[in-house]
Amino acid sequence: MSAPPPAGLGEVLRTHRVVVTVGSGGVGKTTTAAALAVQAAASGRRVLCLTIDPAKRLANSLGLDAMTTEEQVVDPALFAANGLECKGHLSAMMLDSKKTFDDLVRDTASSPDKAQRILDNRIYHYVSSGLAGVQEYMAMEKLYAVREDDRFDLIVLDTPPTSNALDFLDAPERMVEAIDSPAMRWFIEAMDSSGGRFSMGILGKGAGIVMKGLSKLTGAGFLEQVAEFVGGLNDLFGGFRSRAAAVSGVLRSPEVAFVVVTSPAPMAIREAFFFSDRLRELGMRRDGVVVNGVHYLLSEPSAKEETLRAAVAEALPEVDPDSAVDRMSRALEDERLRAVADRIESDRLRARVGKETTFVEVPAFEEDVHDLRALARVASHLVAAA
Ligand SMILES: Nc1ncnc2c1ncn2[C@@H]1O[C@H](COP(=O)(O)OP(=O)(O)OP(=O)(O)O)[C@@H](O)[C@H]1O
Ligand SMILES: [Mg+2]
Repeated sequence: MSAPPPAGLGEVLRTHRVVVTVGSGGVGKTTTAAALAVQAAASGRRVLCLTIDPAKRLANSLGLDAMTTEEQVVDPALFAANGLECKGHLSAMMLDSKKTFDDLVRDTASSPDKAQRILDNRIYHYVSSGLAGVQEYMAMEKLYAVREDDRFDLIVLDTPPTSNALDFLDAPERMVEAIDSPAMRWFIEAMDSSGGRFSMGILGKGAGIVMKGLSKLTGAGFLEQVAEFVGGLNDLFGGFRSRAAAVSGVLRSPEVAFVVVTSPAPMAIREAFFFSDRLRELGMRRDGVVVNGVHYLLSEPSAKEETLRAAVAEALPEVDPDSAVDRMSRALEDERLRAVADRIESDRLRARVGKETTFVEVPAFEEDVHDLRALARVASHLVAAA
């Protein structure tokens, strides 16, 4: 007997603590995350929707002026005004990458004093707010922290549009690699052997010249800041390592579901293939695949061209009926081609992901998704049974 086909994503929402939407840029990750959050809240779960970017349109859809790094409650009256009942509770919040990093430093430093020294360091400011990959790692770190929060049953996490959309998946491992790299080790050894004082002498001649040049460029005190930062990192080492391992473990636990989002465009589908395979390779669960923005075949016009021409001539006397009908049929043909292309791409992905993964399509709407009603409409497709 074969297993029943998985229903829509409703089951994923009911049975997981965390749902993460992943995918390449602009395909509808934020929209999908928000629609899932709205759906889960409507059906009775206490939900936190955590986004990475300011997502202005999403904020507006949820009746908020802006996404903020503080939690904001979505007014149940907004659900009612859009013809929905909210049996649960929905809060939304934007990730504060810098603050998450600060909290991590406080958690892992061996004393409050040492934590403060790092937090005050200029290099740390640069690293925590500007370094590539930090935002990805912090999203995972935040997920780790927030899942302990018993005010929520479900956390829906939207991920950043990174140039390499997979960056955050192995962010914890890469973070450890970065701080545990030979270069860092060398720095730390140099520090230790100089008794905590960083002098040009220990750098060797070549490096010493480079560092002097650097400190000219970046102003006085730079070397001291580097030295202090590196020394501080040394203190965080053990804590960071075990934390990254824990975060990494959580990403692979059954309480976390990943939903791959893609558009039907061939490039995006190709990335979704890669993405799905990569999730598997990294030992993460791939619970759902969403093809968002699918065009479907329109029904053929029932009227004959003759009738259409006559109708155009009557309704729009200033327009040449021949060219109008010609343009209409060309537009229809374009739509048809697009629908056929979307069908091919979507089916290709469906076949690739196999029966054990929930696969859903969301149609391309005529308008952007800009209010709660539209989010609920997206949600109805996401949870519709196959
Ligand atoms: N099915 C749809 N039909 C029509 N418009 C849609 C649909 N899904 C999403 N959109 C619109 O497409 C735009 C991009 O969607 P969204 O912001 O969710 O993508 P994203 O993957 O989060 O992008 P980014 O990678 O930049 O974060 C938004 O304006 C959204 O309203
Ligand atoms: Mg987004």
